[in-house]
Amino acid sequence: MRFEVQKSPMAPFHIRQYQERDRKRVLDLFSQGMEEHIPATFYHALMLPRTLLLLLGAPLALVLMSGSWFLAILCTFCLLLSLWLLARYPWRNYVDTCLRADMADITKSYLSGRGSCFWVAESGEQVAGIVGALPVKDPPLGRKQLQLFRLSVSLQHRGLGIAKALVRTVLQFARDQGYSEVVLYTGRIQRGAVAVYQNMGFQETGTSFLNIVSKFLDVSVVHFRLLWHGTYATILTGSSSADEKCIFSCSLDSNLFDVKWKDWGREVLQFI
Ligand SMILES: CC(C)(COP(=O)(O)OP(=O)(O)OC[C@H]1O[C@@H](n2cnc3c(N)ncnc32)[C@H](O)[C@@H]1OP(=O)(O)O)[C@@H](O)C(=O)NCCC(=O)NCCS
Repeated sequence: MRFEVQKSPMAPFHIRQYQERDRKRVLDLFSQGMEEHIPATFYHALMLPRTLLLLLGAPLALVLMSGSWFLAILCTFCLLLSLWLLARYPWRNYVDTCLRADMADITKSYLSGRGSCFWVAESGEQVAGIVGALPVKDPPLGRKQLQLFRLSVSLQHRGLGIAKALVRTVLQFARDQGYSEVVLYTGRIQRGAVAVYQNMGFQETGTSFLNIVSKFLDVSVVHFRLLWHGTYATILTGSSSADEKCIFSCSLDSNLFDVKWKDWGREVLQFI
């Protein structure tokens, strides 16, 4: 089943439901999308005042105590190596956990019920992006929440609007299935993802840490939500320029997904 076709002069793509033949590519895209954040996490942790203090203080203390510069250099190397392994840990651990959980059998996890789904964006016969959606098991009273998972776009296909199209597909699905809101979690350090969600009108509702290592590295998880207030939805323009952004409410009854908003003499709102 085809959900959406986006034309781009560089790479046209369409979004369709996941099939078993996509499995290897989907798992690669997911793992690579997570592990590419390891260097940024390392750099972030390296720049924390407590890390800098340790990196300067420990070798200096060794020189003062032993008089050996060799030991000081060795100590610096060991500290940097430990920091790299620590920075790698939350991402590798997360990928391993997911590969043993929902990603172990994507069809079973996402495509066996009506309220969940998994999509791929295909460009020139190649899977270029992925996203999944599952119902939240214990949502707050009176709410029906859909959770967005596993958004990732291949490096060669970035900046073409594929992530936005995948998120829109999830929003459309949520609306069709009668969900009242879409929620998701992402790392603060995943700047691209945070930009995508904020650009599409998701609101930040909280932060947390995955585990003690993430807390030590100061790598927080941001909680996002996009909700429909009764018959109203908050919509944000697709523009990345802050002064061109406008948030407004629009009746869902007037067919949210066909809305076009004209301003500054051109179209600035892409439907969500
Ligand atoms: C985040 C990610 C999915 C974005 O994919 P993409 O197809 O390049 O994104 P799009 O082209 O749809 O861009 C959507 C918007 O986000 C912005 N954006 C995307 N990446 C960005 C970045 N790194 N920094 C700032 N803005 C960014 C775009 O400029 C665009 O803004 P616009 O609507 O104002 O033009 C991709 O970078 C990725 O796969 N990252 C690794 C995996 C990951 O972190 N997944 C998130 C899991 S929660």
